[in-house]
This record gives sequence, C-alpha cells and structure tokens, in this order.
Amino acid sequence: MQTHHHPLLQWRQSTALRLVAVGPTLLLIYVIAVVRTENFTGFSDSLDVPFPPYQTVQLDTDDHTEPLPEQRCSTSITIHAPVVTPRPNASHMIFGVATSVERLCGSLDSFAHWAGGTNAHIVAVVDNEGSVTQSEKRATELGIRLTIIQNSDELLDRYFSLIRTLLERKNELTKWIVLIDDDTFFPSMKNLVQRMAIYDPTEPQYIGALTEDMSQMYYGSHMAYGGAGIFLSIPLVQQLSAVFDDCYDFKHSGDRMIAQCIYHHTTTKLKWERGLHQLDLRGDASGFYESGRPLPLSLHHWKSWFHADMVALSKVAAICGEPCLLRRWRLSDDWYLINGFSVIQYSTPLPDSITMEQTWDNSKYKGPDPFAYSLGPLRKKDEGKVSFRLKEAIEETDRVRQIYVHKTAPERKPQVLEVVWKLVH
Ligand SMILES: *[C@@H]1O[C@H](CO)[C@@H](O)[C@H](O)[C@H]1NC(C)=O
Repeated sequence: MQTHHHPLLQWRQSTALRLVAVGPTLLLIYVIAVVRTENFTGFSDSLDVPFPPYQTVQLDTDDHTEPLPEQRCSTSITIHAPVVTPRPNASHMIFGVATSVERLCGSLDSFAHWAGGTNAHIVAVVDNEGSVTQSEKRATELGIRLTIIQNSDELLDRYFSLIRTLLERKNELTKWIVLIDDDTFFPSMKNLVQRMAIYDPTEPQYIGALTEDMSQMYYGSHMAYGGAGIFLSIPLVQQLSAVFDDCYDFKHSGDRMIAQCIYHHTTTKLKWERGLHQLDLRGDASGFYESGRPLPLSLHHWKSWFHADMVALSKVAAICGEPCLLRRWRLSDDWYLINGFSVIQYSTPLPDSITMEQTWDNSKYKGPDPFAYSLGPLRKKDEGKVSFRLKEAIEETDRVRQIYVHKTAPERKPQVLEVVWKLVH
C-alpha cells in the first residue's frame, strides 16, 4: 500500500500560543519509551521535553484512514520504570458489595485492576433482576474471585447484611472484612496491602475515610464513608454480629448504620486512613487528580459526581507500573502530564507544588474551610487552564496508547493528543 501524506499534515514545533486551533483537528503525538530497571528508585518530577510538535489532520474526510508519516512514531523521551513484580497476595481480605445485577456487570473491568490475580475474595449481593451467569463468566476470565448472592431485599438491607454474610464467608486466612461500593476503586492493590499491614487485625479495628466535604459530615457523622472502603477487623465484626438485630433498626444509609452500630455498642472509634477517599467532590474534580500528591489508596464517585474513567486510567500500569498512575510530570515548557488523567497548562505558573486547585463546586457548609481539613492546602480554581483530558486508552503488545482530548468552543474542532507508552526491551 502506498503511503502518501495528507496535504494538511504539517510538522511544527509547538508553543502554547500555536495551540489555538487552526481549523481542522490538531493531532499531537508524544512517544514515551520505557525501560524497566532493576534498581529503580522513583520517577522524576519533570521530563526534559516540551509539549509535543503537532500535525494538523482533517478527521472528517475520507482521507482520515491514511497512514501517517513514520516520524510520528519517533521517540520523544526515554524514562525508567520499575520491573514487574508479582501481584500482591490479598487472600486475607474479603470485600463485600451490595449492588444490582446490571451494575455489577459494569463494574467488573474496574474490579479486575485491583482484585484480579490477588486472591482477594469479592462477595456481591445483588437483586433478583436477571441472570448473573454472564458476570460469573467474565469474573473468571478476569481472574477475579467472585461470589454472587442474589436476593430480593432492599439495597439498604443488603448492604447492612453484608456484615453477617461476609463473616459467614470468611476463611482461616481472612483478617479484614471490607465494605465497598460498586464504584470504589483501588489504584494500587500492592499499596493497599502494604498500608493495611500497619494495623493490628487482632484488635477491634474500624478503618476508613471521612468525607472531604464538611457539609456532608454535618449531615452524616464523623464516620467511615462507604465509597472509600470500610475496613473492619474480625474481632469488631464479631461484636457487631452479636448486636446485629438491634443495629438493624437504625435504618439510615448503610455506612451510617455501620457507624451507629459501632458507636452505640462498642468503644471502637474510626481510624481515618488518609489514603482512602470518598471523593465527595461535585462537578470538576480535576484539581484533586492533578495535585501531584501520592497515589490515593482508594477513589470513588468517578462515574457519577464527576467523570474519570478508572479502567482507561489504569491501563498504562502495564507499561510503567502502578507507581506511574496519576504521576505528575512537568514538561520543559510548563505543561504538565498527569498520567492517565490529563495534559494541562496553567494560565499562570504554579506557585508551589503542594497546594491543590479547588476546581470542584463550593460546599454548602457555611463555616470556615469546608474542604481544607481533608484536602488542604488548597488554591483557587485556574479559569484559564488548558486541559486535554483522557478519553480512551488502548492496550497493545508492549505499548499503551492514551488519547487525550481538548474541547475548545463548540464550533471549533477538538484537539487530540496521543501519548504512546512504549516498552523497550
Ligand atoms: C497468600 O497468603 C496466604 C497466607 O499467608 C498463603 O497461605 C498463600 O499460600 C499465599 N498465596 C500465594 C499465591 O502466595
């Protein structure tokens, strides 16, 4: 097949100013070669390359399937990454989720990232609406140890009953009973297992995360919020099981029922594990993801209150490992790559590397600092930030292609940035 270049294809050195759309869709390619190294010590904070050169492609014509010129695949930079390590062993954790048949099926791909191949046992209690054989088959394909129980109880009852169901299903290895939502996501199971090892499971333990928003806490309580994951040790669950019927009468949201049961019947109190995140942020949560802080242990609300595709985000771990997820690199011309989430340029240079941009909606709480106790230090939203957001990630042999899209005004064509992560042997 003959390779001919589209007349509109043109290569130029990019500057931020030239990024302003010049008619047709901009297609930018960035290739990061990854060398896995035995004595890897960590990723740097910056990459010594500018925002990639770009070419202009008319994507809405018949020509768009033409092969692109070879130089599009030339390497922009080479970085080092950790060698592949075995999946962590999470056979001491049993996870319970109350959801529907349909939502369970839609959650399996994200469950696979953290539970696949780890021996973590997931018990899903779902409604009676339809068959679960498809989910069971898919879970097996994905290496997830999944048990599905169907019953017709109300969702609330299904959630609270998980305490008993999981206690019945535990085995001699089980140390932690974990309640999750179907949109709870653990970016690195290795980090989670390592972190949980600091807590003594032979003591009654109630471990989780507060909401980030004081107004939620004002109406809820000082308790573990369900979406972040609630970690209970066996001794505590045994205490709760003994007073199960009493607690059943509380009839609040599931996580509040758990909290009330613990607070009314035991002297155990919440240990706030700061890596876990309920993520009660409405609207644009980009400031959280782009903060450059350590990779969270859990994330939530990513397909409801705001949108961030966790399955797409985590794909690149196949090339550069879980430590590179959400890693923030500064490029040489003050653009930032937040791996698996966005490629951005702030309208004014970042004042520091510690504050988090408060991009999300204001709290309904009228007192001071409704988010600072959980996420501070914060800084004001940057209204002029240019942002390419991850839309898709494609896994191929020895490489992952991430597609980031910048939507300008509705009448303008979107701009597309492709970041190719390529494994070098
Ligand atoms: C995981 O850990 C348990 C308990 O320590 C052990 O019995 C089991 O063999 C381990 N599994 C793997 C695959 O290493």
